[in-house]
Amino acid sequence: MAENGKKNVLFVDDEPNITQGLKRMLRPMRDEWEMSFASSGAEALEIMSRIRIDVIVSDMRMPGMDGAELLGIVQERYPNSIRVVLSGQSSKESILRAVGAAHQYLAKPCDAETVKQTVSRAFMLRDIIAGDRLRGIAAKMQTLPALPETYSELLSEMKSEEPSLTKISKIIKRDMSMTAKILQVVNSAYFGIRRKITSPEDAVRYLGIENISALVLAANVFGQMDAKIAVPGFSMAALWNHSGEVGRFAQLILKTENKSKQDVDDVLTAGLLHDCGKLVFAANMSSKYAEVLKESSETGSPLWLVEQAAFGASHAEIGAYLLGIWGLPDAIVEAVGFHHNPSDFQHKGCTSLTAVHVANCFVHDNDGSSAEQPYLAVSEVVDRMETWVSLMRAHRGG
Ligand SMILES: [Fe+2]
Ligand SMILES: [Fe+2]
Repeated sequence: MAENGKKNVLFVDDEPNITQGLKRMLRPMRDEWEMSFASSGAEALEIMSRIRIDVIVSDMRMPGMDGAELLGIVQERYPNSIRVVLSGQSSKESILRAVGAAHQYLAKPCDAETVKQTVSRAFMLRDIIAGDRLRGIAAKMQTLPALPETYSELLSEMKSEEPSLTKISKIIKRDMSMTAKILQVVNSAYFGIRRKITSPEDAVRYLGIENISALVLAANVFGQMDAKIAVPGFSMAALWNHSGEVGRFAQLILKTENKSKQDVDDVLTAGLLHDCGKLVFAANMSSKYAEVLKESSETGSPLWLVEQAAFGASHAEIGAYLLGIWGLPDAIVEAVGFHHNPSDFQHKGCTSLTAVHVANCFVHDNDGSSAEQPYLAVSEVVDRMETWVSLMRAHRGG
């Protein structure tokens, strides 16, 4: 952050017209942002060596160092900066190269409102996580670790003679990492979708076999599979089971409340991803995380509070941060970020957050009694709890 409290944004583009356009378009933001403009990758890196840049927005095709290379270097040297691609070129190859290096993609021509929203949202998300170190770790992650079995299943389906979209989406839906990644890719502006896609099925259907093969086989976006997670007290399979259960129960709740198909789709994904921050800790801070898990199980204090004391953020916050900088829809990011303390996100009525919170409590305590009572009161859903709990019990088989 700049000394005067402004946030620093750097735009990189080799075409002077574009830079001029951005300057003009974003003039109203002058009071909040300190904006720098570079005409090449080299110049951008020179600026970054002097000024701390919070968000970098770069073109892809530039002479000399191109956008993917620049953002790759930025990722290494300045992991705290949020990386956005703003590009007019949409060949498949360039999209695939950007998927690894950038957090988000905007397509040219891009109106002021979209740039403003994307950058402001990045700033808002940054404030969720207090520590620089933790933020750096999350911003550096290109993918979440996937279950190796799921990945090899996906590969063999892709390589089969007639890969089926239904099978592929079933496989992807079983894995947190792939679900998050496919949603990141499909929601990137390159694909020009007006509405946000929130379910892995829709994402797979929309992208089609050809794009998915390119992503999986050529760009290896579900990579980093060999990073085996071995943390005592932590099991990816158990986490996945838990998340699947929370997703299904949360869905049940919104169905009972007659919510729209869109909401019902959203909430399954939110449930599947609600604890994805645990993977970030387990993959990056394994020995410390083992201690945290042990302390929580020995003392009985909630894991998220022990995490907050140890790392400065809980798995909910780091998960929301990661999914947020990847551009996943707000409803999902909010449900993930506040699933333990929904009161901190005031709203009325039954939302994805309400359903994920209640379903998660139920999966842990089997009666929903650990749900935040004041929150349920404010959201005006107290009288629905009994119905929801008996429904979930019936589905759990007991
Ligand atoms: Fe959690
Ligand atoms: Fe959970």
